[in-house]
Amino acid sequence: MSAPSRSYRYQDLEQKLLQGIQQQRWRLGERLPSIRSLCEEFAASKATVQHALQRLEAQGLLEARPKSGFYVTLKPHTIRTPTTSARLEPPRPVNVSELLLDIMRRSAAFDILPGRPSGDLPPGIVALNRSIGRALRRQRGDDYLYYDDPAGLLALRSQLQLMLGRRGCALELDQIAITCGCQNALFLALSACCQPGDVVAVESPGFYGVMQLLQQLQLQVIEIPAHADSGMDIDALESALQQWPIKACVVSPAFATPTGALMPVPQRQQLLQLADQHDLAIVEDDIYADTAFNQIPDPLKALDAGPNGRVILCSSLSKSLSRDLRIGWVCGGRWHRQILQLKMITQLASSRSLQQGIADFIAEGHYSAHLKRQKYQLRYQRDQLLAYLRGWQTSHKISVPEGGLALWLEFGTKTGLQQPADTDALALYPKALQQKIVITPGPLFSASGQFGHCIRLSFAHDWNPQRLQALTTLRGLMET
Ligand SMILES: Cc1ncc(COP(=O)(O)O)c(C=O)c1O
Repeated sequence: MSAPSRSYRYQDLEQKLLQGIQQQRWRLGERLPSIRSLCEEFAASKATVQHALQRLEAQGLLEARPKSGFYVTLKPHTIRTPTTSARLEPPRPVNVSELLLDIMRRSAAFDILPGRPSGDLPPGIVALNRSIGRALRRQRGDDYLYYDDPAGLLALRSQLQLMLGRRGCALELDQIAITCGCQNALFLALSACCQPGDVVAVESPGFYGVMQLLQQLQLQVIEIPAHADSGMDIDALESALQQWPIKACVVSPAFATPTGALMPVPQRQQLLQLADQHDLAIVEDDIYADTAFNQIPDPLKALDAGPNGRVILCSSLSKSLSRDLRIGWVCGGRWHRQILQLKMITQLASSRSLQQGIADFIAEGHYSAHLKRQKYQLRYQRDQLLAYLRGWQTSHKISVPEGGLALWLEFGTKTGLQQPADTDALALYPKALQQKIVITPGPLFSASGQFGHCIRLSFAHDWNPQRLQALTTLRGLMET
């Protein structure tokens, strides 16, 4: 959320003209005074008056008639003034996909207290905006008349090729395609390697976006337990492979959400061996890798980089740079052609200027400088959250991720004894909402509604007094 901004002269004038219409100084069908008269009356420049009139016209309140002037087109009672405060809803039972929509609409997947103005933009984002702005300004005269190559802009793919190469993953440019974020990359990957009815193995707990995709693509899911320290349990996957015809496996070896687990190299090798034995497609979600507090881990794809590889790497800049870019990528191995085809069918192409701006930003070293700054900040925020939670002195189990944006909290009991936890995360959701606190309850991270005694807590934001107070309130709610 951006900080409240000061209003400009044209906005003040727009408000005055709007009031004039609402108070029927100018009625439906009547003509407003000429631009020159408005300039005199409101002591404003011609540009300011024209800007204000143009905005009222865009809202459908005025109509510009050639060589005549501006006429009122709406009755005052139909004019709505935009409201800024969020409506508080009474507590009600939740359903998991509705719950996810509710959280997304509140922009709260990674913030327990969304909607507060934050401070200045970080320097990395300032530089990014500058690069994108420059790319837009330098657009070639006729660019707007042409679509980009469906695979994506060569300049951006070259930067991604270099970045992946530094992580031990040597890919050709035609093995990389640009997508609309990682969620879209996962969609393209699963659509290419599976048919409706196929069985897909996922981490449990795992990313809710994948559960939604499986549902949409009519795929069957098998949940494989995932540990907070090492990720997907490969022995459990092996046992599942012996029992069911599993077609694909979606896995996040680097800082999986919600636990933040990093899969050790021996498990990665075991996973690829199993994939070979059972002819399994591996969809690798690498989105959190660049948030590593230490060295950025190599992707699983580095162990399987050839054009016929069975690992489909999906990622984006959403977690490491900006969720607002909606730019990601997919390296589809043996399914790459189908993936490209599908991208073209569903999107035609991505924005050339946006890709160019991002490519310049990376090439000029701003991305690596941003990551260096960000990792200290994220680690600090994680430590603050951990210290605060440990101060609660309960028997909660807390994951300690070395990257990513969140940790996983398993509720304990007040006594600390091994018995079912006292708190139900789904029941806590509406109670917290009444206090304007938004949590991400555990059942979101399971297709079968497990983890009712867990929540994901994000450390993506700084722990200012308001957020710390929200945590204290949450703790109080957990105990009532
Ligand atoms: C593990 C994981 N994969 C993919 C996504 C979606 O990423 P994008 O914003 O790039 O579509 C998210 C977003 O929360 C995520 O946590």
